[in-house]
Amino acid sequence: MIPITQPIDVDKARRETPGCSHVVHFNNAGASLTPQPVLDAYLGHLHQESRIGGYEAAEQAHDELEHTYDAAARLLGCHRDEVAVVENATRAWDMAFYALPFQAGDRILTAQASYASNYIAFLQVARRTGAVIDVIENDEYGQISVEKLRATLDDRVKLIALTHVPTNGGLVNPAEAVGRVANDAGIPFLLDACQSAGQMPLDVDALGADLLSATSRKFLRGPRGVGLLYVRRRLLDTLEPPFLDGHAATWTARDRYELRPDARRFENWESNKAAKIAFGVAIDYALGWGLEATWERIQSLAETLRNGLRTLPRVTLHDLGRVRSGIVTFSTESREATAVKQALREQGINVSVSSPSWTLLDSKARRLPDMIRASVHYYNTEDEIERFCETLSELL
Ligand SMILES: Cc1ncc(COP(=O)(O)O)c(C=O)c1O
Repeated sequence: MIPITQPIDVDKARRETPGCSHVVHFNNAGASLTPQPVLDAYLGHLHQESRIGGYEAAEQAHDELEHTYDAAARLLGCHRDEVAVVENATRAWDMAFYALPFQAGDRILTAQASYASNYIAFLQVARRTGAVIDVIENDEYGQISVEKLRATLDDRVKLIALTHVPTNGGLVNPAEAVGRVANDAGIPFLLDACQSAGQMPLDVDALGADLLSATSRKFLRGPRGVGLLYVRRRLLDTLEPPFLDGHAATWTARDRYELRPDARRFENWESNKAAKIAFGVAIDYALGWGLEATWERIQSLAETLRNGLRTLPRVTLHDLGRVRSGIVTFSTESREATAVKQALREQGINVSVSSPSWTLLDSKARRLPDMIRASVHYYNTEDEIERFCETLSELL
């Protein structure tokens, strides 16, 4: 039987999101509005820490803390032992990337819309080791060319690293096709799913991802300061994390330590327990709506927004891609992006500014200016989009 996607009950979603009564929030690619159950879990644990002590509260919340791994495993279609919960997506990505051994001449393949922090890490490792970074060209849709990727493979390629949904626009890179190329060639595939997690269904096997990073606060609607790393079990034993502590490893003798066997070897001991618990609740909450339904609604809202923006004079849309996400970027002839953001904020509308340096290669190739980034989630409405376009037209 083909599963039927239940449409999102938007009124319910908004009732469960206190922020909806305060702002028009089109900054979900920055951080989404937190739903009430996530807020309750977060504040509940803080409250408990203040009442009985932090360590004691963590002991008491053992099951809730462990549940976050089960929730993440369900989200990604993996095993709980393949999940590490860390501070954010960047730290997750770094822990995986810096664990990979590179030597002079090794090739790292990536795409044009790479995220700044990832590319800076490539540069650092390239400088240290003599590895080289090769950026695969885009195809006619502006996504990574899978054909060119396949054609450039040789035995010097030691990593394929892709940003699934870049920070600066609607593009959704064809991660599954890239994963197939990587898997066929036996090359590790590191996927930055920071902006895709919570927007669309993700399955590490379908994606062919060996390593995947994500964050809580964006489309997963969890708290700030927490994220996750997925590490395929087959790779676990071969990867030594760049930093270790007494949680990641056990000190067994004067000259010896033993790494944990599971992905928690990429974590460190101290962490924000309230955030970790609430992250698990946020993942459950996202799964409760259904990621198929979420993805459908996000895409529909984003297209409605793009169509609205197309009717405005002096507005240029910058989104690429064959498949487009909930991130909508544009610039205006008449006003700087930061001034537009500020003016919208004064009208109770949240957007962010996407600056060229966060996606430097793409920004240079397309001569992108500072752009206004309006990113929608399933709890946004068509009425909000209308209000947004009306307000914007008065500002320009
Ligand atoms: C594509 C992409 N990757 C990684 C990150 C970093 O995520 P975090 O801030 O959780 O480290 C971001 C944040 O905006 C992003 O857009």
